[in-house]
Amino acid sequence: MVISFLLECIIGELLLSLVDIRNLSVSYQEESSWALRDINITVEKGELIVIAGSSGCGKSTLAQTIVGLIPTFVKAKVEGTIKINETLVNELSRKQLVNIIGYVPQYPSDFTTSLLVEEEVAFLLENLAYPSEEIQTRIPQVLHKLNILDLRNKLIPELSSGELQRVAIATVLAHQPQILILDEPMARIDPKSEIMLADLLKDLSEQGHLILAFEHRLDYLLSRADRLLLLDNGKLIGDGKPQTLLDKIRDIDLPEVSELKWPNITQRSLTLEEAKSSILEIFRKER
Ligand SMILES: Nc1ncnc2c1ncn2[C@@H]1O[C@H](COP(=O)(O)OP(=O)(O)OP(=O)(O)O)[C@@H](O)[C@H]1O
Ligand SMILES: [Mg+2]
Repeated sequence: MVISFLLECIIGELLLSLVDIRNLSVSYQEESSWALRDINITVEKGELIVIAGSSGCGKSTLAQTIVGLIPTFVKAKVEGTIKINETLVNELSRKQLVNIIGYVPQYPSDFTTSLLVEEEVAFLLENLAYPSEEIQTRIPQVLHKLNILDLRNKLIPELSSGELQRVAIATVLAHQPQILILDEPMARIDPKSEIMLADLLKDLSEQGHLILAFEHRLDYLLSRADRLLLLDNGKLIGDGKPQTLLDKIRDIDLPEVSELKWPNITQRSLTLEEAKSSILEIFRKER
């Protein structure tokens, strides 16, 4: 009796999923085309997952639906289910969602305020009722992690778009959410910061956080990713280790693979074989 109960607990624990998306379809218009069609994704543990695909394939739609912005704030028809920690997203309160998920939208300037950087970072912590000493400890820690400690006393409207991007990530990272959802985190930041951010996301995933990075700038992220999900025209066309999906990456014509990371190749347009061998070389070096 006791053993069967324990077994049930263990099996239950093993089957728990962090994120479980079942037959998800999203349409912005009443009866026209689907921005997402029949998406199924299960994530059971903290890891670094890159969701890639060319412009308009549905990355932001998926990110916003996972965090409940669609259909709560953006009107759309949604079919299927999304569970976070085994609970349907639409049954979680805003506060519960914010506690579990840190979300940085594609255009953070739409969401940030005109406060000082340190006030912006403190804002969410205060709303989550962190004690003020704890907030004062966390602010420099998280700014340091993102290499923007020097921006602490700057006003948000004075920041460059790359600085703003990193501040936006700091604001959600400050309370160490279990899940981080970043919509094009590499946009507008310089290559040095891109490498730093890719390393930071990898570290966080190794500490048990789930990172969902919706991105088509793959230069530095791909070799650090545990799993790659490929979207094409609203459909999930690949799900697996990045190394196993190289053909499909080329099929959907991902735009941003810069010369910087392509050893021995100077021209932009690569043959499939050149692309594959270069990516594999990057994997070998960086792993
Ligand atoms: N608010 C909206 N109303 C109507 N259609 C929308 C809306 N947002 C996105 N779409 C459409 O849904 C599809 C998916 O868009 P989405 O923004 O999710 O793609 P994306 O992969 O994030 O693109 P990008 O890489 O350019 O950010 C596109 O056809 C887009 O035009
Ligand atoms: Mg987008």
